Amino acid sequence: PPLHSIINVDDFEKVAKRHLSPAGWAYYASGTEDEVSLMDTRRLFRMITFRPRVLRRVEPVSAAVKILGHPSSLPFYISPTGIGRYAHPDAEAVLACAAGKEGAIYCMPTTATHDSVFAARSKPDQPLFFQLYTTRERSKALAMIRKLEALGAAALFLTVDSPVLGRREQDERISAADTPRVSSGLAKKGSMGLLNPMLCWEDLKWIREATSMPLVLKGVQTVEDAIIAYDLGVQGVVLSNHGGRSLDTAQAPIITLLEIRKHAPHLLTPETRDKFQVFVDGGFRRGTDVLKALALGAAAVGIGRPFLYSMASGYGEAGVARLLQMFRVEIETSMALAGATTVAELVPEMINSERAESE
Ligand code: FNR
Repeated sequence: PPLHSIINVDDFEKVAKRHLSPAGWAYYASGTEDEVSLMDTRRLFRMITFRPRVLRRVEPVSAAVKILGHPSSLPFYISPTGIGRYAHPDAEAVLACAAGKEGAIYCMPTTATHDSVFAARSKPDQPLFFQLYTTRERSKALAMIRKLEALGAAALFLTVDSPVLGRREQDERISAADTPRVSSGLAKKGSMGLLNPMLCWEDLKWIREATSMPLVLKGVQTVEDAIIAYDLGVQGVVLSNHGGRSLDTAQAPIITLLEIRKHAPHLLTPETRDKFQVFVDGGFRRGTDVLKALALGAAAVGIGRPFLYSMASGYGEAGVARLLQMFRVEIETSMALAGATTVAELVPEMINSERAESE
């Protein structure tokens, strides 16, 4: 279909399914085991409703935020997703470039399949985040950190929800024969070798000491661990269950955000946000989904699969640009309808989460 006839995330997903190989589709779309976590995140957004305010003069609207100190014209970043080459020959480079042109931020994965994502930035000072898996060998992780410092990475997102690989049965059913080469340096042995089941809170000390790059823990799933992370002085957490790809039936990340609101609200105040930011990802497909997380106190959200689908649509970078613009329109329209002209005006009182909380 012509690009202008693709008008929402679901449309991109349908088009991508037709373009991707069966292995590519299985790798991108699936979750682990019964895919309960994967589906649950979407279900919960429907249960959380708005309490919109009216008569508030809602022009102009700005969805801009600061993510780890970097201005972003959109209140989300593109989440790190492995093996972009299934979607496009230029893979992660397409996402980095399109994000930069739209004033948005991309977080590239350790399992990138493009060799020079940093060089693909739309301008040299475009901030690029990096998702880190540490291998069991500390020396290799350190070498990677040095390389990233030299490249000018703006932050490290250390993935903590995958000490081992979750069981993705759809992948298992498909021959691994056409898995593209993984090439971001650390990843040469394939993604299994990247995971480190021995990683623990103690390790954060040497990672902290090894670099001054901002450090964010990606994959925090309880208020307890969010508090430990905050107390340790990292710069942020991503509430995430890896898009339903790690522990199946793990609670939806938006529920973890509600837990924090209830039991540790000091993690979510505007004052705290200057030194510690709470991000959340998993199942964000509509501007309204994004607004709900922001109103509940998230500093920004992460969006993964939709960007793979837009890149796999046959339109490459133009597809990704269109998706970014679609999200912008949805977010700005919904902000106006909810009675907010800035992200700071999105407050918890605009949300009714009673049904989700009492379930
Ligand atoms: C991921 N995700 C991920 N996370 C990570 O820390 N390192 C990685 O290498 C990957 N790889 C990856 C591949 C694919 C195909 C997907 C779909 C996801 C998880 C990702 O960063 C993010 O947490 C979720 O994708 C968010 O959910 P949505 O937006 O895809 O629903």
